[in-house]
Amino acid sequence: MSIVFLNGEYMPKDEAKISPDDRGFLLGDGLYEVTPFYQGVPFGLEDHLRRLMRGLCWLRIDYDVSGIEAMHRELVARNSLSSSDRSMVYMQITRGAAPRTHYFPEGEVKPTIYSYTKEWSRPRDEVWNRGFTAKTVPDRRWSRVDIKTICLLPNALAFQAAKDEGADDAILVRDGVAIEGAHQNFWGVFGDTVVTHPITGHILPGITRGIVLEEAREAGMKVEERPIQVEELGFADELFFTGTTGEVRPIREVDGLKVGKGGVGDVTKTLSDLFLERVEKVKASERTGGS
Ligand SMILES: Cc1ncc(COP(=O)(O)O)c(C=O)c1O
Repeated sequence: MSIVFLNGEYMPKDEAKISPDDRGFLLGDGLYEVTPFYQGVPFGLEDHLRRLMRGLCWLRIDYDVSGIEAMHRELVARNSLSSSDRSMVYMQITRGAAPRTHYFPEGEVKPTIYSYTKEWSRPRDEVWNRGFTAKTVPDRRWSRVDIKTICLLPNALAFQAAKDEGADDAILVRDGVAIEGAHQNFWGVFGDTVVTHPITGHILPGITRGIVLEEAREAGMKVEERPIQVEELGFADELFFTGTTGEVRPIREVDGLKVGKGGVGDVTKTLSDLFLERVEKVKASERTGGS
């Protein structure tokens, strides 16, 4: 039985009880974060917390994030995942339980904090090296998806539409632009230039996206943050996704059409290697006390 964290306490998952009046349950009034751990070492945690704080500010939920790192580490340890190659901590904060109103509850209502951890794995090399398939699906989300809210129905419907067609993932299309995946950011390689959508209200500012951008620039690659038109997908040399549990994920086919020469392109492979090296550096730095 996994141990979860709910409102300040660790408990077996089947003892965790949440009120039916919780505004997360009734209204989707809340946020979430997913932070990866590599052999018990958090990766990008500061960035995840910064994004969470920004979301809390936008939603006007009053919650002090200073205890979150300790809670995440404790949860990983209590679930015996400290030496697991890859685990993650999911955390959700909602405005709390109150009689259902569209406006915010009056008086003091404590936010609900729920967190669990679990293992995840990178696809086997022979699977990763084949690349993945994607299907374009209309982006029916609201215009503030930069806030990581728990309202993921349009993402879930898009992913399901892709899955129904036998594709591994969805590419969301808004006004002719291939915006991002259902749960990952989207990238293209055109000649010697790596391209990804700029940060606007229409994409989630992915932590993995930020790290891969940094690595690409440090490696001297030409990088552009600009929208990628759907018509351009046919001319792309490479396409890939980035995300916490996807890391760097090559796309070999979109809507049944081969991307570039097919398989995994050199730039995608290089960025994936740089990303994994960065993970190793962070692990090593924690082990030597950050020096
Ligand atoms: C819509 C969407 N885009 C991008 C991402 C990737 O973000 P990150 O790299 O922080 O996991 C996610 C992750 O959940 C997502 O849901």
